[in-house]
Amino acid sequence: MTVGRAPRYGTWIRSGRLRRFAAVSGACLALSALAWLSPWFLLFLVPFAVFGYITLILALTVRRFTPRGGDFQRRIHDLMVAKVAPAAPRRVLDVGCGSGSLVIRLAKALPDSTVTGIDSWGTDWEYSQKQCENNARIEGVAARTAFGRQSAAAIEFPDGSFDAVVSCLTFHEIGDLADKSDGVVEALRVLRPGGRYVFLDLFADPACYPSTEDVREAIGRAGASITEFGILAGSLPLPFPLRHPKVLGHAILIAGTKPGNASS
Ligand SMILES: C[S@@+](CC[C@H](N)C(=O)[O-])C[C@H]1O[C@@H](n2cnc3c(N)ncnc32)[C@H](O)[C@@H]1O
Repeated sequence: MTVGRAPRYGTWIRSGRLRRFAAVSGACLALSALAWLSPWFLLFLVPFAVFGYITLILALTVRRFTPRGGDFQRRIHDLMVAKVAPAAPRRVLDVGCGSGSLVIRLAKALPDSTVTGIDSWGTDWEYSQKQCENNARIEGVAARTAFGRQSAAAIEFPDGSFDAVVSCLTFHEIGDLADKSDGVVEALRVLRPGGRYVFLDLFADPACYPSTEDVREAIGRAGASITEFGILAGSLPLPFPLRHPKVLGHAILIAGTKPGNASS
């Protein structure tokens, strides 16, 4: 019985990572306090400043993502839902669904739809299939949602299986693809002609993608057209530190369709 329990979505910041940076900065500060033994210990203030800054950015980011800090994680998902909903798709796929948050928001906004979420749920993330299923049950959409472990690098659905495909901050995470744009092509493969897609990722981060042109070219290669291509901050004003380049400053929202027969 899950009635009365709150869903648990987590944030896009791994808590283990935040704890590690906090522990290292605390250790550096403690070591610098030994300066009464030798002034050389003051050198630990340098790594303390670096790790302390990273810890501060991560901690503030977590806060911004939660309801108390502006609920930006939910607001970003809502932005994506608003770009999908007018097309009234019946079969929707979320590639890299994490804790099921976007799948569940889509299912709530589209009462005639079934929404599928796939994810690899590797050990480096704190999300799981069970968590998604529990959240869907608590939110009352379990009957119209499905979750499965699959790699975004090789989606196990036939071509054109979905009326809409979404993905949020996942393509750059696909470890088994050297060119992360190939993940975009694979997601578009399962979109039917006439279907709509909405992708948010760090498409402008040179550490993840060679260039935004490369991403545009990949979308064209997949036979899809682009109707929207812009930085996230252009659609949703982002406060500090979310607009930091190491957080969401390089996030780009792309939406479009796959030309073809609009009927499913
Ligand atoms: C930043 S999280 C975003 C989660 C979710 N899209 C959201 O908006 O809350 C990145 C997600 O990508 C997933 N992921 C990483 N590599 C993947 C792969 N090869 N196939 C499917 N999912 C993957 C991770 O497990 C994680 O859930």
